[in-house]
Amino acid sequence: MTPTGETVPTRADGRVVVLISGAGSNLAALVQAQRDEGYAARVVAVVTDNPAAGGLEHARKAGIATAVVAPSDFSDRAAWDAALAATVTAFHPDLVVCAGFMRILGGPFLERWGGRTINTHPALLPSFPGAHGVRDALAYGVRVTGCTVHVVDAGVDTGPIIAQGTVEVRDDDDEASLHERIKVVERALLVEWVGRLAHAGWSVSGRLVRVGR
Ligand code: GRF
Repeated sequence: MTPTGETVPTRADGRVVVLISGAGSNLAALVQAQRDEGYAARVVAVVTDNPAAGGLEHARKAGIATAVVAPSDFSDRAAWDAALAATVTAFHPDLVVCAGFMRILGGPFLERWGGRTINTHPALLPSFPGAHGVRDALAYGVRVTGCTVHVVDAGVDTGPIIAQGTVEVRDDDDEASLHERIKVVERALLVEWVGRLAHAGWSVSGRLVRVGR
């Protein structure tokens, strides 16, 4: 685990492993961004807990390595966590990005990759953490919601915040329409900040994330 406050060193070609569980539109945005030679991050592998994740196809089409680490193949949670950490480690990333990865990362994973793992969440944290952030924000009646890119810690969407984007809620929104508009902002935010982190490195001091040295 990277000690709090230490600036994470970066390579010129920041290696990124992306963890997904579903459609992978955030992954697709990262893959699209790296077509630009000037983009500092390179997705070197996509790892999933879900063998049926639609996003695997984005990776295969782009010639990016994929791996499945399904919880059902392991006797318990800790064994799955350890296998996930080992799988990610084999790809030697500088940064791990959870992009629609719908599982909590436990001790064995965070001991190895804590401080270098970020997540994107479709609400303005600390409001509406968890698996139903869009639905919960809508049900609460907020007029503005959005998305948050944050460092992953042991809690549920509780880690230090890197960046946020806002989206206005419309009177006629349902969960699907609001989530679609959030995802437009979310993809751009994720691409921008993964690029910045890969380019400049970062440090975490308490709840403050500083990009660059
Ligand atoms: C994103 O909104 C992510 O924040 C949430 O689920 C969605 C995943 O979208 N956890 P995709 O799989 O990247 O299309």
